[in-house]
Amino acid sequence: YTVDWDASAAEKGGWDSFMDKEIHEDPAAVQRTLLGRLDKNGDLNLDEVRIEEHELKAIDKIIVVACGTAAYAGQVAKYAIEHWVRIPVEIELAHEFRYRDPILTPRTLVVAISQSGETMDTLMALRHAREQGSKVLAICNTQGASIPRESDAVLYTHAGPEVAVASTKAFVAQITAAYVLGLYLAQVKGAMFRDEIQATLDALKAMPRKIQWILDTQAATVRKAAEQLTDAKSFLFLGRHVGYPVAMEGALKLKEIAYTFTEGFAAGELKHGPIALVDEGEPVVFIVPPARGRNVLHAKVISGIEEVKARGAAIIAVAEEGDPDVERYADIVFWRPKCPTLMSPLVDVVPLQLFAMDMAKLKGYDVDKPRNLAKSVTVE
Ligand code: AGP
Repeated sequence: YTVDWDASAAEKGGWDSFMDKEIHEDPAAVQRTLLGRLDKNGDLNLDEVRIEEHELKAIDKIIVVACGTAAYAGQVAKYAIEHWVRIPVEIELAHEFRYRDPILTPRTLVVAISQSGETMDTLMALRHAREQGSKVLAICNTQGASIPRESDAVLYTHAGPEVAVASTKAFVAQITAAYVLGLYLAQVKGAMFRDEIQATLDALKAMPRKIQWILDTQAATVRKAAEQLTDAKSFLFLGRHVGYPVAMEGALKLKEIAYTFTEGFAAGELKHGPIALVDEGEPVVFIVPPARGRNVLHAKVISGIEEVKARGAAIIAVAEEGDPDVERYADIVFWRPKCPTLMSPLVDVVPLQLFAMDMAKLKGYDVDKPRNLAKSVTVE
């Protein structure tokens, strides 16, 4: 897919940037990545994954190798796949992977996640894994790219061409594909009952509408927040559980297109050092888990917000509609519709994608072609 950077408005679907267009394609990216993977009974059918069922049954560990946003998608998937399949899932930055002499066996499944399918670090990592005798499955958005070509199997995301350097719709599609893989492994290994798999697939199928809800109702709040915070010197992004990789992804987005200093980290780390960074009036973004039931993680994140608020920070929260506590402390709230915790990254990331784009636009930067960056890092 060659990029025509001066594409006419038609190419950008009438949006003023590819990034705008691609964020608004988040719902379709999830929906199209699910299409064609359910048989007439609603069971998962991944014939395209050319790895024999008996080999998949024997898998006792997964290692995800990826870079940047793709690695954060893998980190989200770790929580879900470990919960569903009950095998360990490690996330390895591809450029670190082969230099640490990893333990690889024929029962290790290496999953290489890459939008472009040309990231040299990820390609070299999968070559190393295959040399060590492990099976490699690629999750890729570019048909026929080097990474899927050199893998044993591929699960394509069907997000459509992603042109903007900052990855957005590919991120939600990568999570979706990794979830489909995880549920398929659970189905093949008998790790989940059929009705549990069906219920989880139903929750996944409901996510495109929930993402659309965010795009329809929260964009104005996000833009207003960007106007208020245009001059902020730095941002902290905090999250727990699946909200932690979302915080890292939100921090990366703001870094790469608004050139703003950001730090994303696990909310539980706050008192182990990073709270020293909290400064009067400086913004801190919290990804807040659902408050349902006695969700201890929700209480812990609210307590972190209280600590940071007490030190004068400006609090921005991404939280579930109807959250009983968040409005007491947050200066700005990006609301998300109710959904299961494991599905929340698919909606929580959307206001953060919009926020980074709005901040870059207000600063007058080119959101599609940020300085110093290429769409695909084809050198090591
Ligand atoms: C994401 O916004 C960045 N452009 C970058 O981190 C990217 O995700 C990373 O380079 C991996 O690219 P890939 O998915 O094409 O392998």
